[in-house]
Amino acid sequence: MSPRPGPRVHRVRDAAATAAAKSPHTPAPLHVTTCAKVNLSLEIIRRREDGYHEIETIFQSIDLADAIEIELTSDARIEIECTDASIPTDERNLCHRAIVAMRPVAGPSLGARMRIEKRIPSGAGLGGGSGNAAGILLAVCRGLRLDVAPEKLARIGATLGSDVPFFLHGGTMLGRGRGELLTPMEPLKQGVFVVVKPEVSIPTPWAYAQPTFGLTSHRPRLNLRAANSVLARFPRSALPFRNALEAAVVPAFPAVARLLEELLSEQPCFASMTGSGSAVYAIFTHEDRAVEVARRFAQRGLFASVAKPTRQAIEIR
Ligand code: C5P
Repeated sequence: MSPRPGPRVHRVRDAAATAAAKSPHTPAPLHVTTCAKVNLSLEIIRRREDGYHEIETIFQSIDLADAIEIELTSDARIEIECTDASIPTDERNLCHRAIVAMRPVAGPSLGARMRIEKRIPSGAGLGGGSGNAAGILLAVCRGLRLDVAPEKLARIGATLGSDVPFFLHGGTMLGRGRGELLTPMEPLKQGVFVVVKPEVSIPTPWAYAQPTFGLTSHRPRLNLRAANSVLARFPRSALPFRNALEAAVVPAFPAVARLLEELLSEQPCFASMTGSGSAVYAIFTHEDRAVEVARRFAQRGLFASVAKPTRQAIEIR
């Protein structure tokens, strides 16, 4: 009697191992630059059954960026070094989780050595960790020459964080659902951002758990055409946007409230909190004015940075 065939095993092609076998040398490290984002607008539609909130937000990537050096390996080890000691370098780090999330497509032996140079403060609503994760997903595809469909990469990204899919693109994008359903918008071409962060950091789940923000259900939903027309004409036409999470954060964190007031007193074209805070930003028309305002905040020991809008969020060299 011939032996019964064993169960069919669907093997993931181990691209990491194949790449290592092809070249006995360590693959050249990749240099990944990952931008921060601000939310030009953030409306909360409703709380969902799964605990997330359905939102309508306009993301904008800016050139305040982290730099990651990554070496892909085939020994299934993940090592992270980070210049910011407050960020965990173990399996809680989103770059670690991004490597693990890529194993089903890249192969189970995928490993990496990463060095993250942090310039984007965390707990600020600037999406630094999410941008890092998106950068790692793209770096794995580039380094191993994997042809992963953009929709599939976005799905993997969404398992890591609601705004990771945005960072795979960058630019000016409308985000719906929990932020992962994206529609490109008229790119913001002008304006110089001053981003300021108070000492306090705010965890996103805390902000969304507050009963104090107003749901947007009673307000008209965003009119895409009108919003695009405003973005195209900015700064000649004012941005009619708000961040609904300010209503939860501002009363609980006087430092955020104060910084917002101070930024507004500089008479920018627009000022708002970004995401769930704690960072706030203002947009000016002239760079020298932005530099002067940022310098004043930095002199007080606060994080303050001048940034310009970008068309993409990730660059890999
Ligand atoms: O998706 P992400 O990991 O960035 O979300 C962190 C937390 O923020 C979620 O666990 C949830 O509490 C809250 N959140 C939410 N609605 C969203 C996005 C995030 O309630 N649209």
